[in-house]
Amino acid sequence: MDQAVPDSGTCRSGSPEETLAQARSLAPRFPRALILLEGPLGAGKTLWAKGFAAGLGVQRPVYSPTYTVMNHYADGPRSLFHLDLYRIGCLEELHDIGLFEIIDAGLPCLVEWPERVPQLALLPHVKVTLALPPETAADPAATTRLITWAWHPHGA
Ligand SMILES: Nc1ncnc2c1ncn2[C@@H]1O[C@H](COP(=O)(O)OP(=O)(O)O)[C@@H](O)[C@H]1O
Ligand SMILES: [Mg+2]
Repeated sequence: MDQAVPDSGTCRSGSPEETLAQARSLAPRFPRALILLEGPLGAGKTLWAKGFAAGLGVQRPVYSPTYTVMNHYADGPRSLFHLDLYRIGCLEELHDIGLFEIIDAGLPCLVEWPERVPQLALLPHVKVTLALPPETAADPAATTRLITWAWHPHGA
């Protein structure tokens, strides 16, 4: 584990590139974690996922799993499971796709829209939140984001 990155923190990103870099820097700190990634539509969750994958050493293209529910990017021994639960109705659907076996195996797993299945937050996880600062919320072109992260070793 990379001890230079603390268990929790907050920072301000001024551009997509800064968001990518922040996610990339967090990945070595949490290389086998369940990441629950929250934030409104367009906040930059999928972009953050791209940076996190790059930080794990996964060079494959990362794309939104909105329609597929789960993508698996494998790059030799490195891999990342990436889920988007926007269209998920219930916990059983996650059992059906094998998510809990993946988590039990300690494979890195990043979930967008985890709020859809609140039981996920009972598991050990890192919660990452991307937010638009209130002063820019009405401006769709605004590029400032507030990023917070916190490790919850015993769940929420
Ligand atoms: N600071 C920033 N961080 C992340 N994305 C940003 C930022 N500024 C602008 N954007 C833009 O916001 C959009 C975020 O899209 P996406 O990652 O798909 O969001 P989400 O997955 O949260 O719906 C991208 O078009 C990205 O270029
Ligand atoms: Mg997305």
